[in-house]
Amino acid sequence: MKEKIEEIKERLDSVLDAVTTLKELNDVKVKYLGKKGFITELTSNMKDLSVEERKEVGRLSNEIRNYANETINKLEEKLNEELLNQKLANETIDISLPSYKIEEGTPNILEKLVEEIESVCMSMGYDVVDGPEIEEDKYNFELLNIPKGHPARDAQDTFYIEDENILLRSQTSPVQARTMLEAKGEKPIRIICPGKTYRRDNDDATHSHQFMQIEGLLVDKEVSLSDLKGTFDVILKSVFGDSIETRFRPSYYQFTEPSVETDISCFACKGKGCSLCKNTGWITVAGAGIVHPNVLRDCGYDPSIWTGFAFGFGAERLAMLKYGIDDIRTFYNTDLREAKTFDRREQD
Ligand code: DAH
Repeated sequence: MKEKIEEIKERLDSVLDAVTTLKELNDVKVKYLGKKGFITELTSNMKDLSVEERKEVGRLSNEIRNYANETINKLEEKLNEELLNQKLANETIDISLPSYKIEEGTPNILEKLVEEIESVCMSMGYDVVDGPEIEEDKYNFELLNIPKGHPARDAQDTFYIEDENILLRSQTSPVQARTMLEAKGEKPIRIICPGKTYRRDNDDATHSHQFMQIEGLLVDKEVSLSDLKGTFDVILKSVFGDSIETRFRPSYYQFTEPSVETDISCFACKGKGCSLCKNTGWITVAGAGIVHPNVLRDCGYDPSIWTGFAFGFGAERLAMLKYGIDDIRTFYNTDLREAKTFDRREQD
C-alpha cells in the first residue's frame, strides 16, 4: 500500500510539473481526486480489509489526498496569477480617452418655482402643508361657503369619484378648511399649500385637466387687505424681480369677502403695453381676498375675534410667464431637451 501511494505521489508530481494551463490542471484533478480518481480508488475496497488495515489505509490515503489538494490548489493559484499578469500586460488603457457621458437631468421648472415661493413664504413665517388630492365635497366646497347646488360650483367642472361626495380636488382651497379645523379656532395660522388640482377641462395650450395651485392662508387678529398686498409684493417681487408693481382689482370668490384679482405690472413691456399683457400693461396672477366670516365660523374660528386673508396662485401660469412658455402641456411632457432649454433660459 505504502509503495502504491508513493508511486501515485511521484506520478502526480511529475504530471503537475508538465501542467501549464488551468484546463490541464483540472483534468489532473479529476484523474486523481475525482469520483473514480486514483486517490479515491485507494479506499474503494476497504470492506475487505481488517480493522487495523483499514485504519492504516485510511490514514495514508488521507495524507495523500491532503497532499494532492494542497499542491493542486497552489498550482491553481499560481496559474491564475500568471493569467492575470498576462492579461494586464496585454491590456493598455488610454487614459486620454473621454469617459462615458452621463446624461444629467434638470430640475423640473415648475417644481423649482414652487420651491422658490415656498422659501420666500417660509422666510415670512409660513408653514408648507399638504392635503389630499382625493377630497370630500365638504372640504372642497361646503366649508368654503359653496353649498350643494350653488352656481359657483359650475365654474369648477369637477371630477367626481364613486358618488357626489368624493372628488378629485378642483382647487387647493380645501386645505384652508382642513388646517383651520385642525387648529380648533385657537391659534393664528400661516400656511401655503402647493399641490395638484383637477378639473374636467379639455387640454389645450392654456388648459390642463391636471394643474398646480399654490394656496395661502393667514388667520390672525386685525388682518387687512393691506397685509395681503404687502405679502403679495414680497412673493411676486421674489419671482419676477423688484421692478414690478402689484395691484388689486375687485373680484368675486365665494370664500372671500372682499375678493380681489391680483395683477402685476407687465415685466416684458414695463407697463407700456405688449402682446403678453394684451396691451393693458398688467398681468393677472392670483385670486385672493379676506376670508369670508362664514368660512371662519364653519371652520371653528370666531369671526368676531379672528380675521384672515387667503390666496391662490396658478403655478403653471406663473412659470409660463416667468420662463416665456406658451403651452401648459410643456410641463407634462418628458422631453429632456425642452427641460434643458428652460434651464439655459434661466441662466441667461
Ligand atoms: N381656489 C381659487 C380657484 O381655484 C383660487 C383662490 C382665489 C384661492 C381666492 C383663494 C382665494 O384662497 O382667496 O380659482
